[in-house]
Amino acid sequence: MRIDVLTLFPKMFETTMTESILGKAQEKNLLDLHIQNFREFTTDKHRHVDDYPYGGGAGMLLQVQPIDDTLQAIKKETPETKKRIILLDPAGKTFDQKMAESFSEEDHLVFICGHYEGYDERIRSLVTDEVSLGDYVLTGGELAAMVMIDATVRLLPDALGNEQSAPGDSYSTGLLEHPQYTRPAVYKEMAVPEVLMNGNHKLIEQWQQKESLRRTYLRRPDLLEKMEWTKEMKIMLDEIIEEENKRDLN
Ligand code: ADE
Repeated sequence: MRIDVLTLFPKMFETTMTESILGKAQEKNLLDLHIQNFREFTTDKHRHVDDYPYGGGAGMLLQVQPIDDTLQAIKKETPETKKRIILLDPAGKTFDQKMAESFSEEDHLVFICGHYEGYDERIRSLVTDEVSLGDYVLTGGELAAMVMIDATVRLLPDALGNEQSAPGDSYSTGLLEHPQYTRPAVYKEMAVPEVLMNGNHKLIEQWQQKESLRRTYLRRPDLLEKMEWTKEMKIMLDEIIEEENKRDLN
């Protein structure tokens, strides 16, 4: 997968994108990352990339020309790839695991990071998606782009080593991940659940599924509304509700 990032702060990407899974993904040629400083594409003699809004108002807006010209240069260099061009904007659609999955299926992603009050509206006509990291305002799109790249690249086949895995992650199943334990079996009187120690894989799987459902019910009940329910899961949820009600009474 090729990813281009348009930014005025290319240094922000240097360490984050070369460490850990993202660094390895580049070494393995799964990820071809290009950081583009769009100030280099300005035709303004003072190298400005922003200007005052027509009609007045606070702050400056990013101008359309440097961003358009950077995109044109990328398109010229890679005419064969279909591109998803993503504008980072707190007013965009909220990023989630489903979006990470859809990004991970693309050949070529382009992220545009703003770092000022806003965008000239015409920039929106150059993009395929407008995406927000969440309901808060960052100083720029860079951190949001890095989070989205991280969540996307780890889903590429072979990006994660054998000891890690994506399919059971929280959110990828629509549920939060079940509790997990490693050695020792007892720590300060806190014991690992018996069922995990007995080697019965069917029982272990049932326990994991139920605890996944319990955690989601207790912490993120909103996720349950989007789920497709099997009969077994419905029965499990009824049991959980009963158990939790009893726990509350005690
Ligand atoms: N730029 C500033 N805030 C942002 C957010 N929440 N998501 C994406 N880009 C942003």
